[in-house]
Amino acid sequence: MITLGIETSCDETAIAVVEDTFGLRANLIAAQVHLHERFGGVVPEVAARAHVEALNPLLDEALETAEIQVGDIDGVAVTVGPGLVGALLVGMAAAKAISLAAGVPLIGVHHLEAHYWANFLEHGPPEPPYVALIVSGGHTMLVHVPEIHHHVVLGQTLDDAAGEAFDKVARLLGLGFPGGPAIDRMAAEGDPTAIRFPRAMEDSGDLDFSMSGLKTAVLRHVKAERAAGRDLHVPDLAASFQEAIVDVQVTKTIEAARSTDAPTVLLGGGVVANTRLRERLQEAGAAEGLRVLIPSLGLCTDNAAMVACLGAARLARGERTTLDIGADPNLQLPA
Ligand code: KG4
Ligand code: ZN
Repeated sequence: MITLGIETSCDETAIAVVEDTFGLRANLIAAQVHLHERFGGVVPEVAARAHVEALNPLLDEALETAEIQVGDIDGVAVTVGPGLVGALLVGMAAAKAISLAAGVPLIGVHHLEAHYWANFLEHGPPEPPYVALIVSGGHTMLVHVPEIHHHVVLGQTLDDAAGEAFDKVARLLGLGFPGGPAIDRMAAEGDPTAIRFPRAMEDSGDLDFSMSGLKTAVLRHVKAERAAGRDLHVPDLAASFQEAIVDVQVTKTIEAARSTDAPTVLLGGGVVANTRLRERLQEAGAAEGLRVLIPSLGLCTDNAAMVACLGAARLARGERTTLDIGADPNLQLPA
């Protein structure tokens, strides 16, 4: 069983090939960061156009890498949401065309379910129940998975996503785009206890998140330092900001596992590439007796391997998506 996966929900064009769900045969990404850099963020129209240009050559390369031809494909998986609608539509049009031309089934997948499925590729499928922490540029969520493919959202951000907060603070500090990796690198040189930023919602008693207070506190700190004529200590600032975000994520993730009695925690999404978050969640999980699964760096940020893997699993259960499906920028996780 060969499944092709296509991911174009944001600013990476990605195509992957899996054999029998977990056998990764090709995993290619055409990044667009150079196109969006000068705007300081992803420009939806630019992303959609770049996907159109990148898709066909990337498909050829993926087939070549996997040593297969279009006729060898048994199913096509594609991200149908959430994401940028114009960007999603490009991948979906390609997936539908291949499905139709090759006469093989189509399966639409949810981008955030795919994010934590990245773990299945590397660590094998865990036994439910588990808790997933999904932290990306667009989402910050804690989800309970009582059985495979079923989701109960335990909490989410009330304002910005964690990745968005990283990107905005990096921009404020002049560290460029995307901000997460830049802050991660800068923070490695800094003291996380240098500045005590607020741990928003840490003791709120629920599993929701909020980033706006922290963002404002960083802005206020920068203004105050400048007004006092002091130079900013960027590494300390980056490390202190990062620690405030990580503290809350760790506390709430452990709380989510406790409250649902789940023995396993799966992490997913671009922010899970963060060195400190990975370290702290491993430590906290070990102390709590939890199994914490974290994808390798390349499978945290957007990729099609996770899409192909999840799609292959759904196809194997006999699930199919009809060709009239539309993109859904606000798609909810399947209940
Ligand atoms: O999952 P992803 O690739 O795309 C979305 O689905 O949004 O996540 C992208 C986000 C960006 O906000 C980026 O700054 C953040 O992930 N990110 C990081 C790191 N690497 C990427 N945030 C913190 N530390 C990192 N090392
Ligand atoms: Zn993503």
